[in-house]
Amino acid sequence: MNAPLIDPFARPISYLRVSVTDRCDFRCVYCMAENMTFLPKKELLTLEELDRLCSAFITLGVEKLRITGGEPLVRRDIMTFFRAMSRHLDSGALRELTVTTNGSQLRRFAAELAACGVRRINVSLDTLVPEKFAAITRWGRLEQVLDGIDAARGAGLRVKINTVALKGFNEDELFALADWCAREDMDLTFIEVMPMGDLGNEDRLDQYWPLRDLRARLADRFTLTDLAERSGGPARYVRLEETGQKIGFITPLTHNFCESCNRVRLTCTGELYMCLGQEDRADLRLPLRASADDALLHEAIRTAIARKPKGHDFDYSRQQVSGQMTRHMSHTGG
Ligand code: GTP
Ligand code: 5AD
Ligand code: SF4
Repeated sequence: MNAPLIDPFARPISYLRVSVTDRCDFRCVYCMAENMTFLPKKELLTLEELDRLCSAFITLGVEKLRITGGEPLVRRDIMTFFRAMSRHLDSGALRELTVTTNGSQLRRFAAELAACGVRRINVSLDTLVPEKFAAITRWGRLEQVLDGIDAARGAGLRVKINTVALKGFNEDELFALADWCAREDMDLTFIEVMPMGDLGNEDRLDQYWPLRDLRARLADRFTLTDLAERSGGPARYVRLEETGQKIGFITPLTHNFCESCNRVRLTCTGELYMCLGQEDRADLRLPLRASADDALLHEAIRTAIARKPKGHDFDYSRQQVSGQMTRHMSHTGG
């Protein structure tokens, strides 16, 4: 029997986020540079290697697997990987297999995802105005994503919308987004923009819209009740009493949720990031390739977890960004 993964701050690690590709068909301005250089394909772990790594984590007690990217559904043959992972759902070792996607490929893959045991998916969507959507993603087509969401729901998947709150960009769409999600019976979570990626001449501070302001705007129109549930994730929820709708807030900047962190992140090259907001990482490719026996890999995973830091250092206080990281969000999948 393998002892569960517990970090130095007594937090059990039961959730693995796996970025299966650094590529994406969009270039959201807060996530990627316009001219991103992507990894040469030969540097990526193969799907078989990703399978072995994820399976090792599951053996060590990981119960939730979220596939991310870049855009996970643009990786070639990705359904082979989902099919392989579904065996862990069948055996009961894995409680949840899920994906965070930009929605562009859902029309093609929704039914297969559902057949692999995926039940809920998170779709990133920051605006319902086609021109604004094209601007924030640099060229995406809103229509394609809305069609993908339709396909997902048609396949029986529950959809949660993730919206990055951006000052001067989607402030005016708060109610439109909330109403749309209420009408379509989809959960909605707002995320504070995090200072990641090379900022160039933009400034995340200019884009930063604190969620406490957003919440105050909601409170002008609705009666808000804070909900105690945390769903094991970073979001806190409120219920709008007039409609019964539940809205989530992910506020890494104004309210840190690191104390209950349960997750680590694996990149498509086999690096394990113990915290989204820190640069420290462990190379798991080496032990993976060094031996066909998993003992070395298990040991490397345990050693990495023993280094998990207490939390991130993001800070927008005093009108300047600190804790900024040059790593792009797409590298570790949010
Ligand atoms: P649920 O299963 O729906 O709770 O999903 P989730 O919130 O874990 O996953 P999702 O991919 O929807 O994540 C939404 C966003 O939350 C991410 O893109 C990040 O912006 C943020 N987030 C998730 N985990 C962390 C974390 O450990 N630290 C910080 N700072 N932000 C996180
Ligand atoms: N800050 C906050 N969220 C971000 N995402 C990407 N970049 C950032 C950032 N700098 C979000 C995406 C998606 C999730 C995976 O991460 O919108 O919902
Ligand atoms: Fe692609 Fe998502 Fe990053 Fe946008 S936020 S560029 S959709 S990975």
